[in-house]
Amino acid sequence: MAEVVIVRDADEAGEIAADMIEALVRRNPDVVLGLATGSTPLTTWASLAGRGLDFSRARGFVLDEYVGLEPGHPESYRSVIDRELVIPLGFSPELVHVPGENGTIETAGEDYENAIERAGGVDMQLLGIGRTGHIGFNEPGSSLASRTRVKALAEQTRRDNARFFDSLDDVPTHCITQGLGTIQRARHLLLLAFGEAKARAVAGAVEGAVTASLPASVIQLHEKVTVIVDEGAASGLLHANYYRYARDNRFDWQKG
Ligand code: F6R
Repeated sequence: MAEVVIVRDADEAGEIAADMIEALVRRNPDVVLGLATGSTPLTTWASLAGRGLDFSRARGFVLDEYVGLEPGHPESYRSVIDRELVIPLGFSPELVHVPGENGTIETAGEDYENAIERAGGVDMQLLGIGRTGHIGFNEPGSSLASRTRVKALAEQTRRDNARFFDSLDDVPTHCITQGLGTIQRARHLLLLAFGEAKARAVAGAVEGAVTASLPASVIQLHEKVTVIVDEGAASGLLHANYYRYARDNRFDWQKG
C-alpha cells in the first residue's frame, strides 16, 4: 500500500520530499532522479536549495515535454527544468535529460527508454498529478504498461496549463511522455498533490479501482510509493484517519 502522508501545506510537503532526496544524494552522488515540472515540485526544489548539497553528479530524467514548441521556448520543460532545478541546485545540464531532445520524434520514445536503462533505472520518481488523474502526461485511456511516446493532451490539461502561456491557443496539443510502465519501473514513487482541485484524482489514485480511466491508480501496483498531500488534496480520501494513525504510530525501524 502507498504510505500516505497528510501535511499542513505545500511547504511542509516540500521539506519532507527534500529530506528524502537529500538522503538519496548523500548516500549516492550518482543518484538517478525522475523529475516532474509544473507547480507541484516547486516547494521541494526550494527546500533543497538551502541545504548545500552537491548535485553535480546526479542524473535526471524529466517525465515529459511538449511537442511543437521552438527550442528555447521559456515554457518548454527543458527551459523550465533548467531555470527551476538545474541552475539553482547546481545539476550538470548534460546529465539531466528531457524526452524528445535528441534524434527524431519517431525514435525519441525508444531512445529515452534506453537512456534510462543505461543509467541503471530511476531511483526515485517525483510525480505531480493532473485533475484528469494523469501522471506524466498519461491521460485517461493510457495503457498501464505504456512506454515513452507521443500523446495528445486532454482538453482539461491544456486549460489547466494555459496559465503558463499567453492564451489557450498557445498551449501545445501534444507531448512526449514517459509511459505508465516506464514510471512503474522506478524504484520509489513519490507523488505530491496540493489543493482541493486535486482531491478527486488523489482519491482515485490511492483508493479507487486500478484503471486506465484514472492513470495514476497504477501506483497501487508499485511496491514502494509515498503520497504526500495537503488537507485539500486529502479531502476525498476515505481512509484519511487510518493514514494519520499509521504514520503517527510507526515503529522506529519504519522511520527514515
Ligand atoms: C509535469 C507532469 C504533470 C504534472 C501535473 C500537475 O511534468 O508530468 O503530470 O505533474 O499536470 O501539474 P501541477 O503540478 O502544475 O499542478
